[in-house]
Amino acid sequence: MEFKDPASYTDLSQGRIQHIDFQIKVDFSTRTFDVEAKYQLQKPAHGSLFLDSYKIDLSEANANGRTLEWEFDPEDEILGQRLHLKGLDGDSTFTLKFRTSPEARALQWLDKSQTVGGRHPFLFSQCQAIHARSIFPCQDSPSVRFTYSADVEVPQDLVAALAAELLEVQEGKWTTFRFKMPQPIPSYLFALGVGNLAFRELGPRTGVYAEPETIEAAAWEFAENETKMVEAEKLLGPYLWGRYDLLVLPPSFPYGGMENPRLTFLTPTAIIGTRGQTSLISHELAHAWTGNLVTNASWQDFWLNEGWTTYAENRLTEILEGTDSGDLHLAFNEKQLIALIEQIGKDSPRTCLKLPNDKDVDSFATSIPYYKGCFFLQECEYVVGRERFDDFIQKYMASFQFQSLTTEAFLDFLKAELPEVFEKINIHKWIYEPGLTEDRHKPKSHLFDEVQQVLSDYEQGIKPTKEQVQNWHRYQILSFLQGLPRKIPAEDCKYFDDILDLEKRNDIALFSFFYVICIASGYQEILPRLEQFTGKIGRMLYVLPIVRAMIEANWSRDKVRPLFERVRQRHHQITVNAMEGTLKRAGL
Ligand code: BES
Ligand code: ZN
Repeated sequence: MEFKDPASYTDLSQGRIQHIDFQIKVDFSTRTFDVEAKYQLQKPAHGSLFLDSYKIDLSEANANGRTLEWEFDPEDEILGQRLHLKGLDGDSTFTLKFRTSPEARALQWLDKSQTVGGRHPFLFSQCQAIHARSIFPCQDSPSVRFTYSADVEVPQDLVAALAAELLEVQEGKWTTFRFKMPQPIPSYLFALGVGNLAFRELGPRTGVYAEPETIEAAAWEFAENETKMVEAEKLLGPYLWGRYDLLVLPPSFPYGGMENPRLTFLTPTAIIGTRGQTSLISHELAHAWTGNLVTNASWQDFWLNEGWTTYAENRLTEILEGTDSGDLHLAFNEKQLIALIEQIGKDSPRTCLKLPNDKDVDSFATSIPYYKGCFFLQECEYVVGRERFDDFIQKYMASFQFQSLTTEAFLDFLKAELPEVFEKINIHKWIYEPGLTEDRHKPKSHLFDEVQQVLSDYEQGIKPTKEQVQNWHRYQILSFLQGLPRKIPAEDCKYFDDILDLEKRNDIALFSFFYVICIASGYQEILPRLEQFTGKIGRMLYVLPIVRAMIEANWSRDKVRPLFERVRQRHHQITVNAMEGTLKRAGL
């Protein structure tokens, strides 16, 4: 049966895009891009070609001197509009001229006041999972890969950073940045940022872009990136993308990080002044192999991206920080996974590794594929031993580089390479059944156990002292907050805030865990901090639990919609949609 991606109108029998040449003019005054794009197909095409699009204003389509007819289908709320190009007649190239919408889902346009410097506007994109179609019509499925080149014109004093190789810069009334991406990528890895950006080298292949006001702090925080790359290459094979740079975005960025090729997009909240959040970089760097080099064929196979990456992230943590830290992360992750399965429902298909055949891919992008996928791969590692599993990793990367594959194709490869895994592990259960099997190796961590002891003392009425917790590892504090009952006496909220020194740590992961407890516990003094947090931070992993907790608690339930209305202007559409959905489902 021909492969079909439920989140895309792509029909692979019509042909595949192989390369795109973009001319993009970034217009801050209208919040649009003016684009001319020349598409090259793998083979000459005949008849129709379906492309994904979202609110694209198309003005011209032609192929080899002929005008092409086109039609947009009615808009589907999730998938956007199918663009039906007609009358291809053995053409292997065609050109489209179009303008994006100010409501393009992938883009956030920020005004000056939302930047650190406060003097220039900022723009960034986020295409994963299915938002590239709001920037350019394409076969917006991870099963299709293409190379591209792009000339990006931006206002004089701004810098364009694309997840591609920078070739040259031409100054003028507008500045043109010329890029190419010679490695074939799926559409969700197209990315650009435009703003007042400075650049700093970190090593021969690594560097960082950030606003001038934060570049120093960023360069210090991520100084170890070059070493990280060396270790990642030992584990995963040669790095095939040339450079590895970071782009530090404004805090409304909806994710912690996004693995755009050659240029990871990063939340500024990763800069905490301790180099303590580098597992986030390990994660995004690992994606250069697990995700970008070997890509899930559809979003149903998302665990092939995120489960593999979480596994690799953890291996890197173990190498760079030692086994105590690696084990602690795993124990924390396991508990998160169990809690999440409980929350989603242990019979829910959203807890399977192979996800349901559904177009609403954003709704099942939970942490399940991350953690459950990671534990599944660890189980495979236990069965064959680390040495053989390491050989398998390298062979997997080399065999499928620059390809997209399904879970089933992965399992065929696993069976051929490590057949005993199929004898010792119930593969079907791990991949196709919901919940988490009890029949597995469980992580062990003495640092985690130490925290569990303090938690059980607390349940007996003995509170930890400041001395007891002050040298805790960041993940011990997280594990402590994770393990606290959701509802505690309000005065204990104040006490923990104080002994854990939370405000001083300026760490949004800790804030989020803590605020959820404060809300459930009726500690209303926290309200101004909630207002500040939600007005600034867009990272959904940490904002959405706060919104959910506010909905659930009686005292805050009627405050949450007005709060959301006050802050929505400051957020990316992806975050706004997720918050809106959460409120609507709760009848608010
Ligand atoms: N690729 C993901 C972000 C993503 C997932 C975007 C699904 C759109 C749809 C990225 O690698 C990621 O997982 N980021 C995490 C951080 C990570 C350390 C778990 C995040 O943003 O929270
Ligand atoms: Zn990831």
